Order: sequence, then C-alpha cells, then structure tokens
Amino acid sequence: MANPAHGDGKESAASVNLRKKVILSGMRPTGKLHLGHLTGALEHWVALQGEYQNYHLIADYHALTTNLDTSGIYQNSIDMLIDWLSAGIDPVQSPMFRQSQVKQHTELHLIFSMLITTSRLERNPTLKEQIRDLEMESVVYGHLGYPVLQAADILLYKGDVVPVGEDQLPHIEITREIARRFNAQYAPDRPVFPEPEGKITPFARLPGLDGRRMSKSLGNTVLLSDSPEQITKKLRAAVTDPAKVRKGDPGHPDICLVFVYHNKFNADEVAEIRAGCESGALGCVDCKLRCAKKIAGALAPMRERRAHYGGHRNEVVEILSDGETRARAVAEKTMDEVHHAMKMG
Ligand code: TRP
Repeated sequence: MANPAHGDGKESAASVNLRKKVILSGMRPTGKLHLGHLTGALEHWVALQGEYQNYHLIADYHALTTNLDTSGIYQNSIDMLIDWLSAGIDPVQSPMFRQSQVKQHTELHLIFSMLITTSRLERNPTLKEQIRDLEMESVVYGHLGYPVLQAADILLYKGDVVPVGEDQLPHIEITREIARRFNAQYAPDRPVFPEPEGKITPFARLPGLDGRRMSKSLGNTVLLSDSPEQITKKLRAAVTDPAKVRKGDPGHPDICLVFVYHNKFNADEVAEIRAGCESGALGCVDCKLRCAKKIAGALAPMRERRAHYGGHRNEVVEILSDGETRARAVAEKTMDEVHHAMKMG
C-alpha cells in the first residue's frame, strides 16, 4: 500500500496506491566509503531503487557534530557522491543532495525540536556510545538534537522506508515518535507524515580487518576505491583465529572475520572453506587470497564507473546541483503542508 500521506486529496484511491513508496537515506560525508557502508546501506539502496522512489542525502550539517573543521567537507561530499554513483545509484531516478543546500531541513528541525523532550534525547543510545567512544567531556546542543535533524531529513521527503545500518535504528524510532506527535497535534484527521520504517541488511555491521566494527577512525577498512592489489595487501594483514598459527592447524571459522567476508562475497564456496579451515587443509594465507579476489571481483563494476566519474568532475558537480534543485521542490511542498497544518501558512 502506498502511503496515504502522499495523496493530495484530489487523486483517486487507485492513483494514490500506484504511487511509489519513498526511500530516504543518507550518510555523513566523512571521506571515502568502505565495505561496511556498502553492506550496511549502499547495496540496499541500489537494490531497492526502481521499486521505490529514492532520495539520498549528504548529511553535511550532521558531520559538524563530530568535526567542526569544515575545510574538507566539500571534497568529502564529492568523494562520497562518486562512491554512491560508482555503487550504482542512478542520478536520474534518485536525487542526491547536500542537507546544507536545502534550507527546509533546518526549518523543519526547529519545529520538530518542540515536539520531543530533552530527556528522551539524552536516552538515545547512539549518543551515549559516541560520548564513550570519542571520550567526549561535554555534548553540544546540536549533537543532542542529531536525531531531530535526522527526523527532519526523513520526513521532509515523507520517507516510508529508511535503509540504514543497525546503529541507526534508535534514530528511526525517534523519527516515528516525532511524526506521530506532529500528526496528533496538527493534523489529526489527515496525517502529514508517514511513520517510517528502518530496514537493515544481514551484513549491517561488517567487521573491520581487526575484528572490530569497520570504521575509518579505527583504520581497519577496505575502501570501495581500493585497487585489487590494495585489497590483497589489506586482507593479508587481517586478523584470523589466533589458534590457527600455520597451515595444518585446525581453525574456527565462526570466530574468524575473513570467514564473515567469505560469507558475504564468496557464498558459493563457504562450505568448502569451512571444511578446509576446520580440517587444517586450507591455510590462512590461501584463504585470505581467495577472499581478496572475490572482494575485488565484487567491486570491479564499481571501479569502471568510478573511472568515468573521476575523469568527469563537472558531471558530478552537475548531478549534485540537479539533485539539490529536485530535493528543494519536494521540501518546499512539504513545508507548505506543514505550515498549513499549523495554521501558519
Ligand atoms: N545518521 C546517519 C549516519 O550517521 C546519517 C543520516 C543523516 C541519515 N540523516 C539521515 C541516515 C536520514 C538516514 C536518514 O549514518
């Protein structure tokens, strides 16, 4: 069923039902993307494109919560856009845009900030995790409000589905609460906003090369832009089962991160890899080289598209500008509805 909130009241029920559901998802522009981004979100965005109307946001304001230095933010945004395009996001079907260039994000954020309590935001587990991981001594106001801005990102486009990594589910829950609260307060008879659903993939938290979560700040990533040689080099250095020191020693695939990668990128051979590892017949070096090859193979189509976009920077800039124009048109329409519902139109 299409989301009834997308109807303008003049359409027949049939035409409303034919309307595609909306996907809104985004990432902070923190630099080049890695395999964790691919399996946690990007792959999903591409798979659902066509069935849904996708919008993809470069969350450059959100990036300020962990880094106030904006000198690299434009370049990081462009690099991330190239990664998205390389992964197969089609710029004609799916507008891609920067949050900072569509003013309505900040406007809706302000309205939403009235609809949620500070104590609810203080309980947000991702905030607690960041305070712990980044050893933060104090929290800026904007960081507490991070999920409120994210709710504005999603609801401005009336997102029905938000494909994200597992860590983002608490933010989707807050988004649902805000949507409910807005609808109940200002639009009880004809809701303005849907209550979006989070969608996570089975490999939402791919381990990094050291077994911890894959993350740029931990220096344990395989980048989507890595060459096959770089991938091989990184895989060779990956941590494996500590009990398996040399070929012949029986290993434990279920505690080995390379085996997680085999599961993801080499599904056809996992049974054989498991048997070889457990019996000792397959050594870690061979196992890693086979894995590196499969990962490089999976990234090969992306490499071709990257070569194109890397050589046509102007095209990339135009794609962004076109995405921003299209996003603004949707955002303006939603804000008209918001103001109308609030009798502030
Ligand atoms: N918080 C998300 C992350 O860190 C990025 C993001 C911002 C986002 N706005 C969004 C994701 C809206 C989905 C929908 O990954």
